[in-house]
Amino acid sequence: MDLAADFAVPLAMQVVAGIIGIPLADWTRYKQWSDVILRLSYSRSGGEEAERAMRDFTAVTLEMDACLADMIEQRRNTPRDDLLTRLIEAEVDGERLSQREILGFFQLLIVAGQETAANLIDNAVLCLLEHGDQLARLRAAPDLLPAAIGEVLRYRSPLQWMMRTPRRDAEVHGQVIPAGQLVLATIGSASRDPRKFPGADRFDIGREPNPHVAFVHGIHFCLGAALSRMESKNRSLGFAGTVQEFRARYR
Ligand code: HEM
Repeated sequence: MDLAADFAVPLAMQVVAGIIGIPLADWTRYKQWSDVILRLSYSRSGGEEAERAMRDFTAVTLEMDACLADMIEQRRNTPRDDLLTRLIEAEVDGERLSQREILGFFQLLIVAGQETAANLIDNAVLCLLEHGDQLARLRAAPDLLPAAIGEVLRYRSPLQWMMRTPRRDAEVHGQVIPAGQLVLATIGSASRDPRKFPGADRFDIGREPNPHVAFVHGIHFCLGAALSRMESKNRSLGFAGTVQEFRARYR
């Protein structure tokens, strides 16, 4: 089977769709949205490729906005037990979220919840196939699964980088980052810092402690961290069938 196409991507996309409260059957459409949004963030500004990415992004945003307007209308008439209904009803100091704000969160979730969780599943299988001794160790001691997932997150970070702009001068290992300077922080590299992780380039499913930063750190700590750990343990989702049964259920 093709692990990414047949398993990881449909699973992660359908879990996010289920949380938001949008029809699971349309997951390939959401995946296209996610790809277009991501392509924009990967395109260098200037040039034809960036222009195309921007045009596609604008078209997808319009499509998502129209779709969202329908779904919001339906929920205003008939509230449901889903995230979208909660976002519509949420109120702080008498203020509610505008449709534009809900759209922004919708776009964030479609990308943040899918690409990363699917990468984690793919990376886990790749790491275990590459390190047969660790696979045998896990088979012999399945209780190591949570630690093994932590080690996959450290060894092959599903999200490799993120951006930050310091509000004041910051010093990191003798290097001053001036306030206002855009920084590309490579998470994958931080999780292999030999000052923090002895034998940092060794894949060790029993590593303890394992203070990896795959979900970052601080106020933007990933909202879906617990969920994605669960998704990568297939059994927690109650599925224990053959590949054919899985395909029939999720594709
Ligand atoms: C293995 C899976 C995942 C990884 C490695 C991951 C990683 C991350 C990282 C590194 C950030 C911080 C980005 C930044 O600060 O610039 C983040 C934020 C976020 N993640 Fe995840 N994520 C995963 C799965 C999920 C899932 C399944 C969801 C939701 C269903 C989710 C929702 C979010 C949200 C909403 C944020 C923004 C939090 C904020 O800015 O306060 N993530 N994630």
